[in-house]
Amino acid sequence: MDLDDLPTPALILDRARLARNTQAMTERVKALGVGLRPHMKTAKSADVAGLAVDGNFGGITVSTLNEAEYFLGHGITDITNAVCIVPAKLDQAAALIDRGADLKLITDNAGVAKAIAAHPGPRDGAFKVLAEIDCGEHRTGVVPESADLLDIAGTLAAAAKAEFAGVLTHAGHSYACRTEDDMAAVAEEERAGAVRAAERIAGAGIPCPTVSTGSTPCVMFARDVTGVTEVRPGVYMFGDLFQAGLGTRAIDEIAISVLATVMAHGRDRNQVYIDAGGLALSKDRATAALDDDCGYGLVCDAQTAEPIPGLRVASVHQEHGQVTGDGPLPFDDLPVGSKVRVLPNHVCMTAAAYDAYNVIDSDEGGGGTEVIATWGRCNGW
Ligand SMILES: Cc1ncc(COP(=O)(O)O)c(C=O)c1O
Repeated sequence: MDLDDLPTPALILDRARLARNTQAMTERVKALGVGLRPHMKTAKSADVAGLAVDGNFGGITVSTLNEAEYFLGHGITDITNAVCIVPAKLDQAAALIDRGADLKLITDNAGVAKAIAAHPGPRDGAFKVLAEIDCGEHRTGVVPESADLLDIAGTLAAAAKAEFAGVLTHAGHSYACRTEDDMAAVAEEERAGAVRAAERIAGAGIPCPTVSTGSTPCVMFARDVTGVTEVRPGVYMFGDLFQAGLGTRAIDEIAISVLATVMAHGRDRNQVYIDAGGLALSKDRATAALDDDCGYGLVCDAQTAEPIPGLRVASVHQEHGQVTGDGPLPFDDLPVGSKVRVLPNHVCMTAAAYDAYNVIDSDEGGGGTEVIATWGRCNGW
């Protein structure tokens, strides 16, 4: 099947670009000399994980126990669930460990640590738990100096059915940076916070084997990773327009696009309507914060994925995407029924609307527009 034959809107994954992105990150992390635990929350796909996980490094990161279950079902056992666990999910976590998962959980709460310690746990083994550190994002996590940190570590280290596994932090505030120097500074803040927390714990006599950091911007621009044992970038696999704005991936490295059909012309208003709206593209407007505001996505040639100069999705309704441009639109090149591809602002949100990737390979002959595979993904919770 060719791209032209796909019903739209459809999610397109260019395997050649994905493979280059994963290879580049593997090399970058090898050069840094730490472990790579890619975050699969963007791709949620075992086929993508196969490219992202370097055999030497092993494990992955997920953001839901549903993802953990999906990846375990596809043979990946070494999994860190990098969202604070709640007591109501401990039975589910124990069941995954009983089924063979080497599952790591995180918490930033002394009460939850006590609930984990009081839980009967998995049949064999124990819950492995990391303390989440707030290194400046102010989302979840305890600050490295907090009393709660030692309380959490001490409770877990003393529990019969739990192990204290280390510290984990995520510098999501790297996304507010606009220069490489600023991203490098946040990466250093992240490293220093995680290492400070690990040293306090070790100083209290509790082993702290894992020091886990990393967003895509921090891993790309970190200058020093002393004390860090692993990093967890995720969105680099696909890239998106926001990442392009930050400089972590180029526009022609973005591996995901949405195939859409032109469904109407508004010539008097200089508008073209496509059948990809807020649901198909997401309503994430991340690039509004950048110099180059891409609206709800950049409109590209359907065959080559080359941006059509100046064209972007300026507004969306549920199923309508309204395309405008810097000048008069090329209506004759975009007749009703023709196809375009749209590059997403924030690929994690866009991909979440689809159950599967239509995989093409732009390095293959014939223009690389043949759909060579369908790769599933796991959605929901
Ligand atoms: C805890 C955690 N670790 C790692 C990541 C991966 O960061 P990025 O999406 O920048 O690659 C995220 C992303 O939200 C995260 O929440």
